[in-house]
Amino acid sequence: MRLKNKVAIITGAGMGMGREAALLFAKQKAKVIVFDIDKKAGGETARLIRKAGGEALFVQGDVSDEADVKKAIQKGVKKFGGLHILYSNAGVLWKDRDKSVIDTTVANWDLVQAINLRGPFLLTKHGIPELRKSGGGSIILVGSISALAGFTLAQDSYTCAKGAMLSLAKSLAVQFGSDNIRCNVIHPGMIDTPLQEVYFTEAELKEIGDSIPIRRIGKARDIANAALFLASDESSFMTGAEMIVDGGFIAT
Ligand SMILES: NC(=O)c1ccc[n+]([C@@H]2O[C@H](COP(=O)([O-])OP(=O)(O)OC[C@H]3O[C@@H](n4cnc5c(N)ncnc54)[C@H](O)[C@@H]3O)[C@@H](O)[C@H]2O)c1
Repeated sequence: MRLKNKVAIITGAGMGMGREAALLFAKQKAKVIVFDIDKKAGGETARLIRKAGGEALFVQGDVSDEADVKKAIQKGVKKFGGLHILYSNAGVLWKDRDKSVIDTTVANWDLVQAINLRGPFLLTKHGIPELRKSGGGSIILVGSISALAGFTLAQDSYTCAKGAMLSLAKSLAVQFGSDNIRCNVIHPGMIDTPLQEVYFTEAELKEIGDSIPIRRIGKARDIANAALFLASDESSFMTGAEMIVDGGFIAT
């Protein structure tokens, strides 16, 4: 019941960490607006929530499209009567197209920025007025450990967009703290989701896991648990902050 009487929108809730958070938030009694570009995956998340006795509304859309984001928020508020949690989770990691600045095309740079940076901008632009109307709320942005250190295998557009989450969180925390609106960032480490599964075999993921202090890579639930804490009132004195959830990777 940690999210009783709260309405949450989660972008990219069709798969991976977004789906896991949607299921966990709904279990904790939040009403969840499942937003995803993938109709089948998003619809399935909403179905799983309802099957478990929760409440969900699936809206298909692209986080980089202002009309889609606006529509999802409007539909959700109409159905559930308010909005309290903005979880900006959707993001893409395109290792084949997003490389070092010297190898990336302008078109690929812009496409990654549109999803990973404009997406959070649009969600907060249209979501914050609704949080205000609801008397406050919690915004969760998703960064990455790749924003906290340089890596030899560069995905520079991704890294810059994720780094921008730190600045956005601090700015929103300062601007809207007096409206009872908090904003924090989660930096996931290596997490086993469809995003990573396309790049690594199971053996390679295990090898990466063995190289970090906790001796495993993360599960979607590890991040969903952190997000649940930030979404709930248990974190009511926390804003403008960063949570690194990476099994100690960045500490080495
Ligand atoms: N998996 C990791 O190791 C890892 C590490 C650090 C940060 N992250 C970040 O965590 C977040 C979630 O990652 P994940 O691993 O669960 O990803 P995932 O690829 O498993 O799932 C992402 C979801 O977002 C949706 N999506 C993609 N583009 C969209 C768009 N334009 N509009 C709406 N929905 C869209 C996809 O359909 C999918 O359902 C991302 O922001 C990612 O960059 C992931």
